[in-house]
Amino acid sequence: MDRIRITGGRPLEGNIQISGAKNAALPLMIASLLTEDMLILENVPHLADVVQLQRILNNHGVDVMLSGKRAGESDHAGQTVKISAANIVDTIAPYELVSKMRASFWVIAPLLARMGEAKVSLPGGCAIGTRPVDLLLMALERLGAKVDIDAGYAVAKAPAGGLRGGDIVFPKVTVGGTHVAIMAASLANGTTVIENAAQEPEVKDVADCLIKMGARISGAGTPRIEIEGVSRLGPARHSVLPDRIETGTYAMAVAMTGGDVTLEGARPELLQSALDVLSQVGADVTVSNTGIRVARNGGGLGPVDVTTEPFPGFPTDLQAQLMALMTKAKGTSRITETIFENRFMHVQELARLGARISLDGQEATIEGVDRLRGAPVMATDLRASVSLVIAALAAEGETIVNRVYHLDRGFERLEEKLNACGAMVERISA
Ligand code: UD1
Repeated sequence: MDRIRITGGRPLEGNIQISGAKNAALPLMIASLLTEDMLILENVPHLADVVQLQRILNNHGVDVMLSGKRAGESDHAGQTVKISAANIVDTIAPYELVSKMRASFWVIAPLLARMGEAKVSLPGGCAIGTRPVDLLLMALERLGAKVDIDAGYAVAKAPAGGLRGGDIVFPKVTVGGTHVAIMAASLANGTTVIENAAQEPEVKDVADCLIKMGARISGAGTPRIEIEGVSRLGPARHSVLPDRIETGTYAMAVAMTGGDVTLEGARPELLQSALDVLSQVGADVTVSNTGIRVARNGGGLGPVDVTTEPFPGFPTDLQAQLMALMTKAKGTSRITETIFENRFMHVQELARLGARISLDGQEATIEGVDRLRGAPVMATDLRASVSLVIAALAAEGETIVNRVYHLDRGFERLEEKLNACGAMVERISA
């Protein structure tokens, strides 16, 4: 298993190109199952999760073609992926494939909507809580599907004549539930209204692509989405929006180490709450023509109290990174996690670097320390892993991060991007 070695204490200076958003690329690829025509996705990040989803789509008979770069594109340009689901040969998504990545469960919606049936293994993914799928299945039932759980699989069947529009009220905000509801409703007969929908920018990005494919969706990006079903969807070309979590992660790395970095292609409106927190703790955040510039020259970091919330609140996917940053603030910070119940696994590992963090239920109290010291640490999930990288960049000496496959699931060319800004990050292949 690969490890990475980080020699800390070097400020970051330069430019980092922000990749396409993993959390949009995955549902966009899944949406290809809704049409027999070609879907062309640009700016798709090179990530292990994208490769894994390609395997899952292949299993259904979908052709996924990764094309080369266009002339003039830099090495950092995302890949263009051409996807054709002209012939769906199998509506079963097996455990071996789905258990590796939670989002792959979402194939249930387009398979059901287009083929009238789907049998999908209950999902895996990061071990950050129970992460049930009850609300996703409830949404499908509201559209007329009959859903049973049988031997670890969700088995869904559409009524004769196909799914029909319905009212879906989510009792809690769910990103996956909203994706599933929109995809299924796009091909249902009649009108669907989704209340308390997730407002995450990735939901709007997928809806924008579906609209290009011919779907009739209004209100994506707000809590109330209305979808008028159509009988078929057609071809489209769509560019994946920039990754707000990657943006926030590098912004925190710069705040942590000091320095001055422009995050090229980043869009401030996608992470305003996180940028506000960064300004509050002492980073200089400015919006430029090409992206977001983050700097911290000289001044120390201050503490902050933050609670994770659905968009537009502070994202749970940046909670671990913020905690890493607050380990070196002058004073005591409080971070409350409200989205996932087991998302503090980085706490123990940050403590190995010298952080002082105590936990009380869903609330972490972080007492800033003057110095962190490098140590061997273990990556436990995607966002927790990168919080260890952020801490290591500011720790004295050398940190070895074990199990970096978690990082490869969600961060494109992490070492290359950081090293180009003066960091010392080296991959040690097993
Ligand atoms: C997505 C993101 C993930 C992010 C999360 C919250 C992708 C690929 N993943 O995950 O990075 O951390 O949103 O912003 O986009 N819940 C239920 N029942 C359900 C579904 C969810 O109780 O059927 C609960 C979950 O346990 C959690 C909360 O709802 O407590 C939010 O989860 P959800 O928004 O669905 O997360 P994901 O879509 O899995």
